[in-house]
Amino acid sequence: MKYDIKNINLASEGIKKINWASKDMPVLAEIAKDFKKRKLFKKITIGACLHVTAETANLMIALKEGGANIVLCASNPLSTSDDVAAALVKYFKIPVFAIKGESNKKYLSHINSVLDAKPDITMDDGADLVSMLHKSRKDQIRKVKGGTEETTTGVTRLKSMAKEKKLLFPIIAVNNSTTKYLFDNRYGTGQSTLDGIIRATDKLIAGSVFVIAGYGWCGKGLAMRARGMGANIIITEVNAVKALEALMDGFRVMPMAKAASEADFICTVTGNTSVVNAETFKTIKNGCIVSNSGHFDVEIDLPALQKITKTKKILRDFVEMYKLKNGKTIYILAGGRLVNLSCAKGHPAEVMDMSFANQALAAEFILKNYKNLSKDVHILPEKLDQKIAELKLKNFGMKIDKLTSKQKKYMNEWRDGTK
Ligand code: ADE
Repeated sequence: MKYDIKNINLASEGIKKINWASKDMPVLAEIAKDFKKRKLFKKITIGACLHVTAETANLMIALKEGGANIVLCASNPLSTSDDVAAALVKYFKIPVFAIKGESNKKYLSHINSVLDAKPDITMDDGADLVSMLHKSRKDQIRKVKGGTEETTTGVTRLKSMAKEKKLLFPIIAVNNSTTKYLFDNRYGTGQSTLDGIIRATDKLIAGSVFVIAGYGWCGKGLAMRARGMGANIIITEVNAVKALEALMDGFRVMPMAKAASEADFICTVTGNTSVVNAETFKTIKNGCIVSNSGHFDVEIDLPALQKITKTKKILRDFVEMYKLKNGKTIYILAGGRLVNLSCAKGHPAEVMDMSFANQALAAEFILKNYKNLSKDVHILPEKLDQKIAELKLKNFGMKIDKLTSKQKKYMNEWRDGTK
């Protein structure tokens, strides 16, 4: 079996992390039990490009138990847990191509290694796998039944491919299930981003001015949690509705150039490019800690920063000090890569349980329905989304009410109004 990981001897640490995460992934476990009985993925190769974490490992194991042939690479050069990668290879015989801190060249060669396995189903987080397939390995596309996409950035990329009629197989946007984005993007990003910033810097959040660029679900979660820790939050936005929402959620809202002048921390979660840019660096507060929790490392304009930098130095793991020509000092975390997975371990298993239950059910959905799906970006049927929520609630020991037949009838009756 071919693989490329940091060190197979890390496997004994990795398996502990996989097992620890698994006890908080009961919905995925229930799906895995069912997959194991049905072996529905027999003769199916799943090529996965996901953050190589303990939670992802549990998804890979579930799919393998369903009979799939799995190959995994990282969806970011800095997000791999090397011990987990080793455990997947050693104990589960799953080929992994991922090393934390790999160069971009290596990262891309690892994606190619996954594609060498000729997947029938792709599983992506950020759309690099699908993009590579369409750009340089088109000959393989005929074999692909469909793919899944985990994150907002990937869905945006795939939708623009579909709009240009360049997407050559159907995609299930796992990100767009409510049991994914309402929990993973909000509570997952909220917690793991702060976790990453704190692990990297050991700084106190209370009393700080914390600027968050972007008030989507990730930004909302981060703002909620940073406020909970006593930060004074400023939101920057380009969307008027989201800016209003932030305002009425009780946050200050202003343009980045102004916000930066007060910022002790800036964190970008927009999915867009050059959000912290040359203009920001002119006004930025001396000593500001700048990080990104969006998928790609483009939100902080590092080339623009480089131009105005006198010297730079790595002060500690994932913290780089930039001394600017204008006399200010700022700190960039994880080279602008996603701070929650570079400096911490990503979202907790409790939310990844639902995200990856969606991934697992999406893979099954593709297998059953690919012939009838257009070459476009689709979402999972609401019934499956609800099923995941019901299983999760059950696991929390919670019961909820059911509609009575009178209520069901009322909800479908337009004649009843003021009597
Ligand atoms: N994305 C964010 N957190 C993650 C995690 N723990 N595992 C896989 N993908 C993630």
